[in-house]
Amino acid sequence: MSSGDGVTLVVGGSGGIGLATARELAGAGRPVVAAARPSRRLDELARSAQREGCPLRTLPVDVTSASSVAELFARLDGTPLTACVHTAGRNLSRRLLVPPEEDGQDWRTHPEQEWRDIVDLCLTGTFLVGRAAAKAFARQGTGGVLVTVASSTWPGSWGQSAYSAAKAGVVSLTRSWALELGEYGIRVVCVAPGVVDGEALRAKCASRPRHAAYLERLRRHVPLGRFAAEHEVAAAIVHAIDNEYLTGTVLEVHGGGFPGRID
Ligand SMILES: NC(=O)c1ccc[n+]([C@@H]2O[C@H](COP(=O)([O-])OP(=O)(O)OC[C@H]3O[C@@H](n4cnc5c(N)ncnc54)[C@H](OP(=O)(O)O)[C@@H]3O)[C@@H](O)[C@H]2O)c1
Repeated sequence: MSSGDGVTLVVGGSGGIGLATARELAGAGRPVVAAARPSRRLDELARSAQREGCPLRTLPVDVTSASSVAELFARLDGTPLTACVHTAGRNLSRRLLVPPEEDGQDWRTHPEQEWRDIVDLCLTGTFLVGRAAAKAFARQGTGGVLVTVASSTWPGSWGQSAYSAAKAGVVSLTRSWALELGEYGIRVVCVAPGVVDGEALRAKCASRPRHAAYLERLRRHVPLGRFAAEHEVAAAIVHAIDNEYLTGTVLEVHGGGFPGRID
């Protein structure tokens, strides 16, 4: 199936990189289903697409729930699926150990529940969505492309071990699935952004001045001297969809990258 024949499902399509991707595809006249948890912004996206006559509709999903993901794909029944982009995820800054001299308490450690929450959302979510997409592509008999989203932190990152480990898992799923699914004409490509200068980052900086100062130091270490714009990551995702010889690979969109720890 060529990239223009069916719908592209963008999971995590109500905000950030997912929304930029959904907008870019729909703006080019390519049918899109944007899925995320039910929210006012998902409703507003559906209304604005209708107003503008964009080929975009929305569906609810919680990627941490197998039954919710199954329901999402059931609701697509009959709609040929060209591509599935999975962007739902979030970062967590949490060290494994916090020493007593920082806050006068005993050594504090990474809370287990926060580890589980990040792995659930970033890694298990990718597994559930990727599994359902692969089955949909295989049943159609047309093949298709799954785009996963990791992060340039995937090889390991100071102060973000749960997130980095989950994203390394996403890269590993991408490579393993590309090996398994090529024979069915299914491609699997991972896009790994560096820091993205989007709405979420700006909101976090506004409420946490220390984080904003840290990011400013980090920005100076990026060889291109700036963070990515959402549309630049979206462009890499669209490239991953359209280039029919890409599979099992990671497209790093990080402006040249940066060292792990910035003081
Ligand atoms: N922004 C960055 O600097 C950056 C850098 C590297 C990698 N990344 C990765 O890029 C991806 C997108 O990041 P972003 O910054 O664009 O995030 P974002 O602005 O927070 O958008 C995330 C999207 O995922 C949806 N989502 C979150 N939890 C969900 C769930 N349980 N089920 C279904 N949908 C869910 C959100 O909508 P609801 O919350 O309303 O459901 C939203 O549509 C993530 O995987 C992130 O780890 C981001």
